[in-house]
Amino acid sequence: MDDLAAAWDRVRRLAARPGAAAVRARLDAEPDRFARLARRGGGLTLDLSRTALTDEVLDALLALASAQGVTRFRDAMARGEAVNGTERRAALHMALRGPAGAFRVAPQAGGHAAGEDASEEVHATLDAMRRFVLAVHAGTVTGATGARFTDVVNIGIGGSDLGPAMATRALWRHGMPLRAHYLANVDAHAWEAIRPGLDPATTLVLVASKTFTTQETMANAQLVKAWLAAALGDAAVGAHLAALSTNLAATASFGIAPERVFGFRDWVGGRFSMWSAIGLSIALACGWDVFAGLLAGAWAMDEHFLAAPDEANLPLLLAATEVWHVDALGYPARVVLPYDERLARLPAHLQQLEMESLGKRVTMAGDPVAVQTGPVVFGEPGTNAQHSFMQLIHQGPTPVPVDFVLVARPDHAQADSHRILLAHALAQAEALARGRTEAEARAEMAKAGLDAAEVDRLAPHRTFPGDRPSVSILLPALTPEALGALVALYEHKVACLGAYWGINPFDQWGVELGKQLAGGILPALEGRAAASDAATAAMIGEIRKLWS
Ligand code: F6P
Repeated sequence: MDDLAAAWDRVRRLAARPGAAAVRARLDAEPDRFARLARRGGGLTLDLSRTALTDEVLDALLALASAQGVTRFRDAMARGEAVNGTERRAALHMALRGPAGAFRVAPQAGGHAAGEDASEEVHATLDAMRRFVLAVHAGTVTGATGARFTDVVNIGIGGSDLGPAMATRALWRHGMPLRAHYLANVDAHAWEAIRPGLDPATTLVLVASKTFTTQETMANAQLVKAWLAAALGDAAVGAHLAALSTNLAATASFGIAPERVFGFRDWVGGRFSMWSAIGLSIALACGWDVFAGLLAGAWAMDEHFLAAPDEANLPLLLAATEVWHVDALGYPARVVLPYDERLARLPAHLQQLEMESLGKRVTMAGDPVAVQTGPVVFGEPGTNAQHSFMQLIHQGPTPVPVDFVLVARPDHAQADSHRILLAHALAQAEALARGRTEAEARAEMAKAGLDAAEVDRLAPHRTFPGDRPSVSILLPALTPEALGALVALYEHKVACLGAYWGINPFDQWGVELGKQLAGGILPALEGRAAASDAATAAMIGEIRKLWS
């Protein structure tokens, strides 16, 4: 058995031991678990105490990380090597928030000349973005009529929507410079829902697309451009448009002036792009200082990730915990519960970040994976989730680990509400870990005066198995810096998991087939061609009957 197989074998043997998944017994036996299993980094606290991790398991998981080359992968990423092997690209999103001169593209990564300073262009773009944002806020850049911009519409989908939409929702406060709207779905109901609240004369439109070819985005961009032209005239449209893209030829043919194009490079993956020009809507809506704070917080987490030893490294520990849950204990999903309404879109952002990155069935070398890879990720803000799917998390047959995201200090003065919110979060974590034994359930019902037959009848239903693991991430407050660090923590966790599982976390071939097929189905829907698949053709027939 080689070192790698031995490292996996050790993790699996630990998981096969009786009581390996026990959480409650460990919490009871080890009152110092928080002190031993909580870590700090980038201004955040990560608590792993409500899992079944032991010193021995953690040691085995970190030994596996070393055998699998996780930190080697991290360092190759930071050196600008082509860690995205299938696309022959670097993954240098850290350069988007790092200091000038800190990141260079390695010779084999393409896109840049060998050894070129990746951050030089980043800082030039940031400077152009800052000047544009300040000019919009100062009213020196206005719409065609001379009216100040009051609203910004970001047209983009996936990574060109989710990160900025999530961050703007989290950080926007009343009185901030512009209102932001996010148009992603090609379903025109989305545009129809936004449109009535907008005045074309005071609306700035950002077309956000790395490739500038995504059909949904281009269709929406044409729709909104036509709306601007109908209200203000063709000649006025340019004053209301900007593009965030790597494809300068396509932005020009769409009619966007070069000085209104904010670029980035192919080494920025879509789901890692909110720190690039793609984040312009955040800066326009919340202010430049907020955007700068977001970048600073992410960079603080980057520095931690690059320097902290394995046993104190938050992204690596979060990844190790996921390997324990997914591969060793066989838990196929994970829930993200932000206990802050402003983080309502965090689960959606993490769904793309994690599932588009880690939903892979072959290794970097193209061989079938021998281990389980990315779990299903879903979530909702607490406490809403408690009245929705948490029933299954407490009493369903298969444990689903939970990430609790807690914010210590709110930005409102309703201290009572905030204490209730946090009490619910802590209660959920405790209920999942400790459960309620049948004896406890029976004792409670007897105490409440239920007769013996009723106690017998209800006991199985009122028993909670417990031993349901969770991790908690505590933010001191929802500042731009803390949010930046939180998102970067998850980004680096994804990179670590890619290395743990030997898969490429930076490509997304799985989204291509549907895109391609839609291109052929559109003419069939329009009655200009026949669909090649019988089931598709039959449904098109039904739809067309309803159209006639
Ligand atoms: O869903 C596939 C994808 O390529 C994502 O990775 C990306 O974030 C999204 O589409 C949007 O792509 P673009 O920014 O090129 O329009």
